[in-house]
Amino acid sequence: MAPSKRTHDTRLLWKLDRDHAIHPHSDLPTFEEEGCLIMARGEAAYVYDTEDRKYLDGIAGLWCVNIGHGREEIAQVMADQARELGYFSSFVDISNPPHAALAKKIVEIAPPHLNHVHFSSGGSDANEAIARTMHHYFHRLGKPSKRLFIARIHAYHGTTFLTASLSGKPEEKGAFHFADEWVHHVDFPGLYRAPEGMSPEEHLDQLGVRLEEKIHELGPENVAGFFAEPIMGAGGVLAAPDGYHRRMKEICDAHDILYASDEVVTGFGRLGHFFASGPVFDIEPDFIAAAKGLTSGYFPLGASLISDKVHDVIKRPAADSSYYSHGWTYTGHPIGCAVALENIRILEDERILENVRELGPYFEEKLATLRDLRLVGDTRGSHFMNCVEYVANKETKALLPAEANIARRIAAHGQKRGIIVRPVAHLNILSPPLTLDRSQIDFLVDALGESAEAATADLAAEGYLD
Ligand SMILES: Cc1ncc(COP(=O)(O)O)c(C=O)c1O
Repeated sequence: MAPSKRTHDTRLLWKLDRDHAIHPHSDLPTFEEEGCLIMARGEAAYVYDTEDRKYLDGIAGLWCVNIGHGREEIAQVMADQARELGYFSSFVDISNPPHAALAKKIVEIAPPHLNHVHFSSGGSDANEAIARTMHHYFHRLGKPSKRLFIARIHAYHGTTFLTASLSGKPEEKGAFHFADEWVHHVDFPGLYRAPEGMSPEEHLDQLGVRLEEKIHELGPENVAGFFAEPIMGAGGVLAAPDGYHRRMKEICDAHDILYASDEVVTGFGRLGHFFASGPVFDIEPDFIAAAKGLTSGYFPLGASLISDKVHDVIKRPAADSSYYSHGWTYTGHPIGCAVALENIRILEDERILENVRELGPYFEEKLATLRDLRLVGDTRGSHFMNCVEYVANKETKALLPAEANIARRIAAHGQKRGIIVRPVAHLNILSPPLTLDRSQIDFLVDALGESAEAATADLAAEGYLD
């Protein structure tokens, strides 16, 4: 039964939130002035604010709500599990039924060589666990000098000290310190901003050379692992040229470097598969990180999938009696694991990945129609993971000044038209629930186009455009 609609004092909530809640990745002075929209409920692909205004959720919460909002089955599983066993430790020699069942289910849907799972509470700690497991692996192999990590500029791997350091978004490198001794970055893929006239093959060769140069600069004997999202998400939905991940993996293998595929966004259906590394990118990574779509965001849960190759080493008894001294209070959380099992059942039973495979190309084509608009430089992405890049000049690809706030402006116009899209710098990211049908894709993209036109008119009136 759907819950009855609650009434809210929007003004009071807005003020309480603005005065006391610190939001992730927010510009605090702007937030102090503007506060934020308060979302009250959700149903299927729609969310409703505290004034009961309805929006098509173009971002699935935050690349999360793959099965859609307000699922009664999930609410039921959560309540049942909370009554039965709301929490118990998974440390050392204790488990619980959903923990065991989910570990087994995940290895069934994962590439065949990934047969071990360590659960966390989200994506950052799933990557953090992978990094620490890489260290443990090389210690066990008697190669403790292998401890450095390589990631890509514009990557996003999380917000713990190490995973924020692995992340490579230049605009996020300002006012914090990072583990610069431990983490090194190489070029990011993406043809739109590659040198003019460069072919995908040349781009791929160049990226391969850059990785090899970096490995040799650091010394292969010092490098533990390489982290890569199959398609870079928060960094701007940057897809690599065909064969990129295979090439990078070969280079890593040649230098005894472990490969972590960060599928926190691409996992659980966004590209039409439970995991994209195998079926889409044809690689066998040593690790996969997952979160978000694992529970469709209904419960905070992450997973680090670990290959047999790594597990065979880390399970060996150590001569110095050191052990795998890593793990979280919430590893194997019974409610989170029960929710994930139900989420996977829904994805399978309702053939939601098939929907993504069928409608994904249509979504990309529909979005490409926006390229005719005055400010749209590029539309890109794959299946249900897409973005629009705005430019002042399509020839030179020059950006609008930051104070024009193009992506936020368009997102605000979008809200008036009943859509939520995510503004990131000069981009709008679209990552809706995977249940969208054709008419909802049309609505989302048409409303985004109208919003871009409205923002263009504003900017022209304000003298930003020639
Ligand atoms: C690719 C990727 N990895 C890791 C993370 C971090 O996940 P979390 O915010 O759950 O810690 C994110 C979050 O957006 C992500 O997009």
